[in-house]
Amino acid sequence: MSRRRQIYEGKAKILYEGPEPGTLIQYFKDDATAFNAQKKGTINGKGVLNNRISEHIFTLLGQIGVPHHFIRRLNMREQLIRQVEIIPIEVVVRNVAAGSLSKRLGIEEGEQLPRTIIEYFYKDDALGDPMITDEHIAAFGWASQEEMHDIADMAIRVNDFMCGLFAAVGIRLIDFKLEFGRIYDNEYSRVILADEISPDGCRLWDMKSNEKLDKDRFRRDLGGEVEAYQEVARRLGLMPEG
Ligand code: C5P
Repeated sequence: MSRRRQIYEGKAKILYEGPEPGTLIQYFKDDATAFNAQKKGTINGKGVLNNRISEHIFTLLGQIGVPHHFIRRLNMREQLIRQVEIIPIEVVVRNVAAGSLSKRLGIEEGEQLPRTIIEYFYKDDALGDPMITDEHIAAFGWASQEEMHDIADMAIRVNDFMCGLFAAVGIRLIDFKLEFGRIYDNEYSRVILADEISPDGCRLWDMKSNEKLDKDRFRRDLGGEVEAYQEVARRLGLMPEG
């Protein structure tokens, strides 16, 4: 555990001051929450797996030109990241109906969507992260039109890449959540991908059996959370035994 100054503690991660200005250390906890933290628990070893999975995906995204905050993994639970000004929007990309979309629109879980859908939610625990539109984002100044254009563009590139990455290992990417942040170069700012990409924020189904390999195992009391996260890491080639 790091002895550096703590900057922020979230539900699944802690941010500490980094070794250089403009950097932070992102620590991955084993804590799991669902339904706006009404359900709480621990998934032993989740933090280690998410740190590794997120490192892998961010590294590959960097190689295809998606700008992001990840610098390098420091140890089992920590990674060095660039400090960003977080944009208070959760960007959800959906390929297949599931979760809140199925509930809201009465579409059966597992139904392929006619096209990829991007949804925005306002990051506010007290309000339960309500769904918002571009209109709200523009009216309340949470992000500029140009930033939203970049965000949507990056979200689609991340989706295209991740659909292929997971399909190659027999996993269907149902949906996932992204977060973005601003970095400043003198008076200019630009938006980069932030937070993490892991089974905590993605729905991942085995292509043959439709078995859930993500946090829905915890949300829906299905059991086998650790094994599911390990299976994702194993298929991505990230487990020591291959
Ligand atoms: O619950 P919902 O169906 O809207 O979730 C869509 C996707 O976004 C899921 O993959 C879920 O794991 C992720 N998500 C998240 N954090 C939230 C809300 C959703 O990672 N606060």
